[in-house]
Amino acid sequence: MVKDSLHYSPMVSTLGSSIQAASVVSPNQSLHPLTSRTNSQGHLEIGGCDVVELVQRFGSPLYILDEWTLRRACQLYRDTLAQCYRGRSQVLYATKAWNCLAICALALQEGLGLDVASGGELYTALQAGAKGEHLYLHGNAKSVDELKMALEVGCTLVADSLFELEQLAVLATSAQSARLLLRVNPGIDVHTHEYIRTGQTDSKFGIGRFQLPEVFEFLGRHPQLQCVGLHAHIGSQIFDLQGHRDLVGVLAQIWQQGLDEGLPLQELNVGGGLGIRYVESDDPPSIPAWVETVATAVEQEFAGAGIPLPKLLCEPGRSLIGPAAVTAYTLGGQKRIPASEDLPEGRLYITIDGGMSDNPRPITYQARYTALLANRPQAEPTQVVTVAGKHCESGDLLLKDIRLPDPVAGEILVVLATGAYNCSMASNYNRFPRPAAVLVAEGQAQLILQRETYADLIRQDLLPERLLC
Ligand SMILES: Cc1ncc(COP(=O)(O)O)c(C=O)c1O
Repeated sequence: MVKDSLHYSPMVSTLGSSIQAASVVSPNQSLHPLTSRTNSQGHLEIGGCDVVELVQRFGSPLYILDEWTLRRACQLYRDTLAQCYRGRSQVLYATKAWNCLAICALALQEGLGLDVASGGELYTALQAGAKGEHLYLHGNAKSVDELKMALEVGCTLVADSLFELEQLAVLATSAQSARLLLRVNPGIDVHTHEYIRTGQTDSKFGIGRFQLPEVFEFLGRHPQLQCVGLHAHIGSQIFDLQGHRDLVGVLAQIWQQGLDEGLPLQELNVGGGLGIRYVESDDPPSIPAWVETVATAVEQEFAGAGIPLPKLLCEPGRSLIGPAAVTAYTLGGQKRIPASEDLPEGRLYITIDGGMSDNPRPITYQARYTALLANRPQAEPTQVVTVAGKHCESGDLLLKDIRLPDPVAGEILVVLATGAYNCSMASNYNRFPRPAAVLVAEGQAQLILQRETYADLIRQDLLPERLLC
């Protein structure tokens, strides 16, 4: 039995203590990157780099990715799965959480495969060194070009519909067959935000159970389609392990149906979804607890039904990379709304030099975060503050009513746990150049993403001659 990781210790006690002490935490249960500490200047340090100095050197907003925390999460998934599960296994990194060359390469170095969800993500993974056997292409509406690209590089397709199978049947040949998993909709509803729930019956994703007989029959008639397994993903930011136990039960039944229809099933992919700690009250299970739950459920369900164990795959995104990164902003002006009948406490707004373009999650999902001041991370909170982004949207409020020490313009605000679905969802709204990202380790910071320039913003624009002034 793999022992669950140690419990989360609050940031004030972990900051300033040794990295070794923090290293036993499952990254997804920690609010901050595991190498975070307060240095001799009294500043926040991550990966041995002073965050205030990083902003002086690279500017802000700045994504700061802690290599050690990311590697630790990869290793926890990989090693726990190998220890807990008696069959073969493979962890895939769901690159939609943050896809760029350096991160794909790091995941490959840690022995992970890559889940990609578009031609662009596939292209990036290939440029980072991935080969067909490392790659699984998702998407509920893949284009013909994306299907062709996947066939050419020999990656596994995660087929989302009968329509896609019909397209593949035309594109694939006996010489270039399509290796695929069927994405099934298990009809499981989990408690998370409706925009990140995917396993309920009424979802745009996956093949409904009612349609499986027709799909199995279609596969039986098209030998160029090699259906080697099943896939399901029930949603994201999930704290309750029961959803994945239930999922395995449903998948085992469908697996048996598939075997009865003669499908050469070998791989079972249970998706991702494990949640992370964004605010102190969040209490997700650890990575080892999640992996052990899934592995045990698969062994029980398959052994119970007398079916040989499948190769077990999972594809976490958020819980791998979310806690490993933070975003640093420079604080600007303040505005105090006096107390009134409608607003008994009044409100203090403080502005930052970024917002919904570098982190769209608060405006999209009402997501909550934790923040601190990099200049004095140990200072006691004295104020309730709302952090306002600089975009032309009233809803562009990155953090509402959080407690901070009296903030001063020019100080560096660090928003924690921004590694997942921040940079990858960033936009140029209001023609903001997207931020730079640095990878930090052992006191060294390496740029992995350059800050966009104004020239980058108009690089794809064309000005017809008749409009020239
Ligand atoms: C098919 C699929 N797999 C894996 C993931 C990763 O999920 P998470 O980041 O919650 O682990 C997602 C995210 O939405 C997904 O759609």
